[in-house]
Amino acid sequence: MKNLAILTSGGDAPGMNSAVYAVVRYALQSGLNVYGVESGYKGLIEGKVFPLNSLSVDDVVYRGGSMFKTARCEQMKTPEGLQMAYETLKNNKIDYLVVIGGDGSFAGARALCQTYGVKVVGVPCTIDNDLAYTDFTIGFDSAVNTVMNSIKMLRDTMHCNDRTCVVEVMGRNCGDIALYAGATSGAEVILVPEVPFDFDDVVARLKHNVARGKKDNVVVVAEGAGHADELNSRLAKFLPEIELRPVTIGHVQRGGDATFRDRLLGLRMGTHAVDCLLQGKTGRVVGIVHNNIVDEDITEALSRRKTFNRELYDTAMKLVEF
Ligand code: F6P
Repeated sequence: MKNLAILTSGGDAPGMNSAVYAVVRYALQSGLNVYGVESGYKGLIEGKVFPLNSLSVDDVVYRGGSMFKTARCEQMKTPEGLQMAYETLKNNKIDYLVVIGGDGSFAGARALCQTYGVKVVGVPCTIDNDLAYTDFTIGFDSAVNTVMNSIKMLRDTMHCNDRTCVVEVMGRNCGDIALYAGATSGAEVILVPEVPFDFDDVVARLKHNVARGKKDNVVVVAEGAGHADELNSRLAKFLPEIELRPVTIGHVQRGGDATFRDRLLGLRMGTHAVDCLLQGKTGRVVGIVHNNIVDEDITEALSRRKTFNRELYDTAMKLVEF
């Protein structure tokens, strides 16, 4: 019988457990022995591998976070760390590895595949939605919904106090969380790293709203484009006519239950990853393109540049400009 190991790595995201559930159950059903790895590559380097059965994942499909825990692992970027990770796989007679995470996790998977010939498939799971080869990553939809709900709550209090709020969201260098949550919340200003913005325009838009009686504006800023505290203080200097409040949503957007979309994505992508390995495909990453589950060479996938959804950005701007 062949042995498959699964690990979750990098920033956790809602839906990670759904992918774990799918990989574990489907691999067992396909006649494989299945092993979990604690805390991503860190655990792999430290030899923390344990067997799993069907009941191990009995109640995880609806839970946030990762049942295996995750970690960011600098050691994995070194030849020594990589070798130690490989030794663990070899010592445990692991034939297949499924890596669930984002681009950093995929870089580790690629290194194991290229240096040691490990048969590996990656499943994209990050709230950032920053991988170019797939329309969506697991966790993004849940994070956007969390931000949307947070903005709704902020709107209630901002409206009562005639205040404007500067809301910082995550995403690293990608503006997708800000764009999708900002657009679906009717944010008056959306600042993303992909679209250079003119500070004076932002001030002018807010002044225009205040002049027509609207003081409770929402400015959404992606962390890759600016920070709430800084932007709030800068805006306050030019807008003495309104009170401003900075809010950083932070890690709240990484936690909580996954939406049905993320759970479904986890189930579809997880089973596809196992299928790839059973079909002899290796060095692949799973994705979703036009709602079809696909897989692509890991090196090609990582070399692609993500295109920003300019159409959605322009639509959102059209709806708030008067
Ligand atoms: O990649 C997911 C993410 O949440 C980013 O949006 C954010 O910049 C980063 O991780 C935060 O990392 P950490 O949890 O290590 O502070």
